[in-house]
Amino acid sequence: MSQPVRISPSILSADFAKLGEEVRAIDAAGADWIHVDVMDGHFVPNISFGPAVMKAIRPLTAKPFDVHLMIAPVDRYLDAFAEAGADTILVHVEAGPHIHRSIQHIKGLGKRAGVALNPGTPAKMLDYLMDDVDEVLVMTVDPGFGGQHFLSGQLKKVAAIRRMIDATGRLIDLEVDGGVDLQTARQCVEAGADALVAGTAVFRAGPAGYRAAIAGLRGG
Ligand code: DX5
Ligand code: ZN
Repeated sequence: MSQPVRISPSILSADFAKLGEEVRAIDAAGADWIHVDVMDGHFVPNISFGPAVMKAIRPLTAKPFDVHLMIAPVDRYLDAFAEAGADTILVHVEAGPHIHRSIQHIKGLGKRAGVALNPGTPAKMLDYLMDDVDEVLVMTVDPGFGGQHFLSGQLKKVAAIRRMIDATGRLIDLEVDGGVDLQTARQCVEAGADALVAGTAVFRAGPAGYRAAIAGLRGG
């Protein structure tokens, strides 16, 4: 069963020189979650920020932090992100050989466990994880950078995972990440997504436009 659409602005596209103000602004503008993109220059070809930066902005909002770890290895950093205030921790199935272990580790830390799939990774990688995950993240760009083009071929995967989630009878969030704008947001929701990450589509609006951008992505 889908839930109302949640919008999770990615602070990767924020003005890092005033990151605290940006977090307060998207909170006030109606963001449901705060999407935190962590990149290591190894699993993905870009470096962003780590748990210390996340910890610094954590007190500025009560909204849940949706923490997308694009790092390998990942297990040794899970405790640090939990301590820094993550609510959901998303780990890529491609990041290591033991995704089941990573999920159990996250749950053992008392956090919501999420699994992210790269564009080339099939939905069936989730088959034996569905009992344990709280959120699935479908990448609609190759991870590493904001501002890329939406890969519409991934909509089939979103629809397939929607069916898998509904078959469990559990509430599992189905989130899409990459190239989400007004048009592709609708396609994602029609395919069964109920959470949308948006970097460029929110932050390019500038602070005065954040509210309208978030409302537009949510569907008005
Ligand atoms: C890509 C990140 C995304 C990205 C989204 O590796 O995981 O969260 O920041 O940015 P846009 O919305 O600009 O595609
Ligand atoms: Zn992301």
